[in-house]
Amino acid sequence: MQNRICEILGIQYPIIQGAMSWVTNAEFVAAVSNAGGLGMLGPFAGRRHNPTSMDEIIDWMRQEVRKTKTLTDKPFAAPMIVSYDFSRIMDMVDMLIEEGVAAVLVNGVDGVDLVPIIAKLKQNGIKVIFRGATATPEDAQNAERLGADIIVATGFDEGGTVPEKIIGSFSVVSHIVDAVNVPVMLAGGIADVRGVRASFALGAEGVYVGTAFLATHESPADQRVKELIVRHTASDLQIFRTTPAYYRSIPTAFSTELVKMDEQGASREEIAQKMYGGQALKKAMLDGDLDNGIITVGNGITYIHAIRSVKEVVDDLMQDFRE
Ligand SMILES: Cc1cc2nc3c(=O)[nH]c(=O)nc-3n(C[C@H](O)[C@H](O)[C@H](O)COP(=O)(O)O)c2cc1C
Repeated sequence: MQNRICEILGIQYPIIQGAMSWVTNAEFVAAVSNAGGLGMLGPFAGRRHNPTSMDEIIDWMRQEVRKTKTLTDKPFAAPMIVSYDFSRIMDMVDMLIEEGVAAVLVNGVDGVDLVPIIAKLKQNGIKVIFRGATATPEDAQNAERLGADIIVATGFDEGGTVPEKIIGSFSVVSHIVDAVNVPVMLAGGIADVRGVRASFALGAEGVYVGTAFLATHESPADQRVKELIVRHTASDLQIFRTTPAYYRSIPTAFSTELVKMDEQGASREEIAQKMYGGQALKKAMLDGDLDNGIITVGNGITYIHAIRSVKEVVDDLMQDFRE
């Protein structure tokens, strides 16, 4: 059963695996696309060590895009933001155009002018998936006006950098659906078919999923991280302030320290310095160093009960769309 998302992206099921720093690679992304969804490379896809320059980051992404093309003939996507250095976004966009990526994730963040970025992607026939850091009707309408093909509405239940506004996924989505004509996908906390059904009942036309794909055989996340995801529920998660807003983590020694800093009144910037400076996400999630890292996941972990294949996750979440 095809819908507008499937038609726009040329995919079988209206599901996107969202970009995730460090924990994607060509094999994982191709598995999602081969299962009928849209796989998306994330920052530092396929890498295990820190970059030394923006040139290296862009070149890494080009290599991973090329590798993904050898593993699937289906569409896949990549993000335009792959570093805190925003000065090279246009070079990244140019590379993705040269490599003929089907769709690009355009993140709405302060300090980035979306006008030339979306215009260039559209001129080159690339689909634009817009996701604001915090979902607002105004940002969604602006992105639609600029030519975005799909809007992702992100709720506070998501894994990774959560939105600034503490509005849950099922409270935010209809607000965005009502504001635009292009299709909207919901991100944040979707990890089983009930979440998919609820998203569609609220007007979403697709789901944008991260955490549920972490607990898969193909995910490059450390095996212990996958097992911890299966064993924990949302009520176990810690949350702390950082920049730009908050992060959640399955409790680790390091996340417990960050929570303590927060309780003792450290500034957002101080907590961010310790977290990002220490490469906390990479250390725990990719390297398996649980003492010195955080395991950022969404509230949907409650519904993840086993480590499965990417195809099993897609088939399960998309069971209402199978012929
Ligand atoms: C480990 C992890 C890393 C993430 N890194 C990024 C990122 O680099 N860029 C981005 O746009 N979103 C990032 N996200 C957010 C996801 O793309 C997606 O919006 C989110 O996972 C959806 O919520 P869910 O995890 O509850 O399914 C990350 C999410 C996770 C879990």
